[in-house]
Amino acid sequence: MPEPESVPSAVPWWRDAAVYQVYPRSFADGDGDGVGDLAGIRARLPHLARLGVDAVWFNPWYPSPQKDGGYDITDYRAVDPVLGTLDEAEKLIAEAAGLGLHTIVDIVPNHVSDRHPWFRAALAAPPGSPERERFHFRDGRGEHGRLPPNNWRSEFGGLPWTRTADGQWYLHLFAAEQPDLNWDHPEVRAEHEAVLRFWFDRGAAGVRIDSAGLLVKDPDLPDLTPEGPHPYVDRDDLHPVYRSWRAVADSYHPPRALIGEVWVPDAERFARYLRPDELHTAFNFDFLARPWDATALRASIDSTLAAHEPVEAPATWVLANHDVTRTATRYGRADTRFDFAAKAFGTPTDLALGRRRARAAALLTLALPGSVYLYQGEELGLPEVEDLPPDRLRDPMHHRSGGTDPGRDGCRVPLPWSGDRPPYGFSTAPGAAEPWLPQPADWTALTVEAQTGDPDSMLELYRTALRLRRTAITGGLRWRPAPEGVLAFDRGIGFTCLVNLSPQPVPIDTPGELLLRSGPLTDGRLPSDTALWLGRA
Ligand code: GLC
Repeated sequence: MPEPESVPSAVPWWRDAAVYQVYPRSFADGDGDGVGDLAGIRARLPHLARLGVDAVWFNPWYPSPQKDGGYDITDYRAVDPVLGTLDEAEKLIAEAAGLGLHTIVDIVPNHVSDRHPWFRAALAAPPGSPERERFHFRDGRGEHGRLPPNNWRSEFGGLPWTRTADGQWYLHLFAAEQPDLNWDHPEVRAEHEAVLRFWFDRGAAGVRIDSAGLLVKDPDLPDLTPEGPHPYVDRDDLHPVYRSWRAVADSYHPPRALIGEVWVPDAERFARYLRPDELHTAFNFDFLARPWDATALRASIDSTLAAHEPVEAPATWVLANHDVTRTATRYGRADTRFDFAAKAFGTPTDLALGRRRARAAALLTLALPGSVYLYQGEELGLPEVEDLPPDRLRDPMHHRSGGTDPGRDGCRVPLPWSGDRPPYGFSTAPGAAEPWLPQPADWTALTVEAQTGDPDSMLELYRTALRLRRTAITGGLRWRPAPEGVLAFDRGIGFTCLVNLSPQPVPIDTPGELLLRSGPLTDGRLPSDTALWLGRA
């Protein structure tokens, strides 16, 4: 099935797309089992078209035991029966294309589920067997190999090694149910290229590549030390993998896009993934992690643009996703950075302040050059749900921390669509089961229905901003002189964005017609934590 051509344009869609991220289990439930599914998404596609985004990235929808929110996959060429069927996925991709929406599917190459046929075969086979070669099996250290093979730590906390019944250990950088693949094995490489083709053949316009910087390990799996190249993050020999994927993507018409989840702090190292024969774009986690502070955000914008320029790749701008604290909550805290290590239960939050800043941040982000990612529910201003009953928490980050890390369930609560009580239209089937994560009792004012038509709502702010982004904002970014704590820049010749992150109102001494503002002005001045878009005819 070919991916329908977009309106002919000199600029490929992925260079400046607004991409909406759908977490399928929490978007909309079509069959009433309390879990979001493809039928629910298909019924709600008009919401995305009306919102004004260009593409939709779907978190994994494959069969999975759900030990890590679907990132533990048993079959990369099928759809989890709880979510629907492959036939429905094909229809969904075609219907989205019919509404002008490109589809991006999530590819998870670093690891598979421990229930994947390859890993079951590896466990059933003896040490040293070809079946084990597709993974990282090693003997342990110490007496009788009782100690793990090296000193690494899991990204989710705890050991990244689990011992099997015959005494060998296997590597898993994430949960024990997510064994890491051996990317030095030709079958592993061939399999993933075949999976890319499988989804590109079904009309996917691109893939989001999970944990894209972690695939290739130093074959000796040496201890982690402060010196020398990291044994598994950002290895030089990872780049040929993406060159080969690029050739696959470029063999399609139109070419498909590769989008990497690359957590590499060094901007120059990060940009190496975006060379013209590698990935098209990668998520900008530096921007996401910065505090609500003009100097810090400007520094991130400048270093991002400077790093992308030599490789001629577009920047991406991301405020939130299914792994991090919701923007409205994060910006309402004393510490407005995002840091996995700093997450804690009971952090005080001023949600009114956080929402005001989230509105201003939306206008800042949507005005920047490049593509932008919008995580479902951000357009509604949803807060992090921090009082989920402990026995409902699913995230291995929570469980593997011994219960101290709140985990990522709080940003994955099912969306509120309509009505004044749970499930707020999330499930539309009569007699539907309770949503898989409980929704708060006070989300009535946050539903799509309640916000539609209210000019002061977050949803209408996003709708207007996304429409203007398409029509009124083009060209490179140029900073304007501005008071301390204020971000002021032009795009092209006819557009200015002002964001006041200082504690007091500032005068608006820029000419132009008011296009949009994130909050009311006071006496013609721009209040604290407010953003403004100006246009000139
Ligand atoms: C990525 C995903 C995250 C998942 C992890 C392991 O970081 O975004 O949700 O837990 O990879 O697959």
